[in-house]
Amino acid sequence: MHLSEKIIESKPAAAAKEPSGVAKEPSSVAKEQIVRLENASMGYFSGQEVLKDISLSIDRGGFYFLSGVSGAGKSSLLSLIALSTRPTRGIVRLFGTDTTQLARHELPALRRRVGMVFQDYRLLDHLTVEENVGLPLKMAGEEKKKIAAKVAELLEWVGLGAYHKARPEVLSGGQKQRVAIARAVVTRPDMLLADEPSGNLDASLRIRFMHLFETLHKDGMTVVFATHDETLISMFKYPVLKLKDGRLIR
Ligand SMILES: Nc1ncnc2c1ncn2[C@@H]1O[C@H](COP(=O)(O)OP(=O)(O)OP(=O)(O)O)[C@@H](O)[C@H]1O
Ligand SMILES: [Mg+2]
Repeated sequence: MHLSEKIIESKPAAAAKEPSGVAKEPSSVAKEQIVRLENASMGYFSGQEVLKDISLSIDRGGFYFLSGVSGAGKSSLLSLIALSTRPTRGIVRLFGTDTTQLARHELPALRRRVGMVFQDYRLLDHLTVEENVGLPLKMAGEEKKKIAAKVAELLEWVGLGAYHKARPEVLSGGQKQRVAIARAVVTRPDMLLADEPSGNLDASLRIRFMHLFETLHKDGMTVVFATHDETLISMFKYPVLKLKDGRLIR
């Protein structure tokens, strides 16, 4: 199944009926910095720092590319912003809060405001497509009926309505990626971090995928889109955060 033109060109059904979860900024208001890193560095247990002295800010409602060759640190930077890892030095502010001052139990509330599309999808193979997409809502204690309605809308939007009862193992890479996108936005997070979401797709489908993310962006969601695909980046006029050897060079 391919993404239909309807899906590409129209607003997501969920957003059209239910815009409440996404804040829209009046244009006169100064942009809120949803993320701010100040000289942040990060290393894994093995020791060496893989992110070095990174300072950046992300405005609410913006669309950003995160670029850099394989190993440059894109996934590591996304996990730092998503609070999956913590900096070894420096400050990570999220929604105005200095997260380095927070205790571990205070992090989940902030994490829930961020949706993540993982490079390796991270779908649960023992659950159906609709159960995977609905899981964040189930964990948030949402009613079954509401979960079913939201999940159905989003699966239609990503062009996978017919696959709601399928297991992830029978899906293609691009289909799994679309399930991962639906799951990442089902709670209407303030910000979406997408890690190489079009990495496994051919050129035409890659552009269609970009339109999915642009639809979310136009609806008010802040989007950070990691890719090493310079051709894709050059086709769209969005600001680029570029990493090289763990340093931000642009
Ligand atoms: N869990 C980990 N433990 C130790 N080192 C890691 C881990 N994950 C990544 N690294 C290292 O951190 C560096 C940056 O990796 P990262 O995955 O962030 O790069 P990337 O830009 O996302 O690459 P790709 O385009 O291949 O996905 C690499 O040197 C990598 O080996
Ligand atoms: Mg990566």
